[in-house]
Amino acid sequence: MKYLSYRANNVKHYDQIFIEEVAIADIAHAVGTPFYCYSTKNLKENFLEFKHEFEAQNLGQNLGQNLGQNPGQNHHDYKICYAIKANFNLHLVKILSELGAGIDAVSSGEIFVALQAGIDPKKIVFAGVGKTREEIYFALQNGVEEFSVESEAEMFLLNQVALELNVKAKFSLRVNPNVDAKTHHKISTGKKGDKFGVDIEQAIDLYQTASKLAGLQVYGIAMHIGSQITTMEPFADAFKKMRELFFDLQKLSIKIHSLDFGGGIGILYKNEKTILLHDYVKLIKEICGDLDVKIVIAPGRAIVGSAGVLVVKTLFLKPTSSKNFIVIDGAINDLMRPGLYGSYHEVMPVFKRLGDKKIFDFAGPVCESTDILAQQRLLVEPKVDDLFIFCSAGAYGSSMSSEYNFRKLVPEILIDGKEFRVIRKRPSYEEMLKLYR
Ligand SMILES: Cc1ncc(COP(=O)(O)O)c(C=O)c1O
Repeated sequence: MKYLSYRANNVKHYDQIFIEEVAIADIAHAVGTPFYCYSTKNLKENFLEFKHEFEAQNLGQNLGQNLGQNPGQNHHDYKICYAIKANFNLHLVKILSELGAGIDAVSSGEIFVALQAGIDPKKIVFAGVGKTREEIYFALQNGVEEFSVESEAEMFLLNQVALELNVKAKFSLRVNPNVDAKTHHKISTGKKGDKFGVDIEQAIDLYQTASKLAGLQVYGIAMHIGSQITTMEPFADAFKKMRELFFDLQKLSIKIHSLDFGGGIGILYKNEKTILLHDYVKLIKEICGDLDVKIVIAPGRAIVGSAGVLVVKTLFLKPTSSKNFIVIDGAINDLMRPGLYGSYHEVMPVFKRLGDKKIFDFAGPVCESTDILAQQRLLVEPKVDDLFIFCSAGAYGSSMSSEYNFRKLVPEILIDGKEFRVIRKRPSYEEMLKLYR
């Protein structure tokens, strides 16, 4: 049992930083900076910890053989659907695919990557608030069965496309439970007024309508109340509402086969307290463990967040009358989270320097005032070319990056033991321009 943090994983700081058995400085020498770098071991551990908890707490698959010994206790089939939006690098998804992951996708592009990575389409849930007709076609034609529907209009569209293709789509309704996730307001998704899901009060009407539509099989209830949630109460409140809805539907003879609890498990970025997977899975069990349903969870950040770092290089030191800036070659277009949400990433020098410490801000080269990747960090003054890692940058890092200022998308490197390889290359300017021709 552990918190998901860079400290708990495979970043080792001797006289310089290693991830697994590879010195970060060696990668920087080989591929240049900035770059994202992931630990295979860490990624696998994070995923397997979910699996372990499900199985250890008897929420696991194929536990039916115990039924006789524990009468009255249901044994569940479960799916850990990695929320691929957190990081869609094909090679990372392949690793998760080999470990048996399913996928929570929010675009046909993400479904495409998942299929390319070898994910069984039956393990893909198509979520997202604005699916197009073409995307629904693409999903159904490629064998994706389960849809987490977010509005009445989408329900009718899904039905129509399913009928055109002569298939039945599994209909889960993403319900907005009106729960405060107590996270940053920009990543809260389960409160009234948020664009996500359907108000819980309207859910029954929609299920009743869906049950009469020939292209749909009423299948599940889905929720996702936000991201980087660090306390259990919001989950508990939401899961209880899910349970109530399950029974309300049962009274109307509407059978629910699957509960999708979404993602949102907070990881450590600083020294904050967050939740333990053990407690999270226990909560699911306590609230819904007696229901005869398949259990789906869709974590993104908790699987890939702590498995990745962004590595940058010092370009200049820029002391001003009010602040000391370290100008680095990584920027807001490479790692948006600090600029977008004011979020915190621990910054560590790759080589330790000795001396007095001062307060520094890390500024990127992009022409935006928000291009400050870290503020108020107490450090020994670095020298030009000194390397730093931004920790816990595996989730919503590379996947949110852009070419703003016509900067090259940052390459991605995968470490496995003593080896590393490039799993997304840095493009040339010619390659970037190709699409304009
Ligand atoms: C529907 C849905 N499921 C799962 C996730 C994953 O969330 P997290 O990365 O916080 O686990 C998200 C993220 O926004 C989401 O929108």
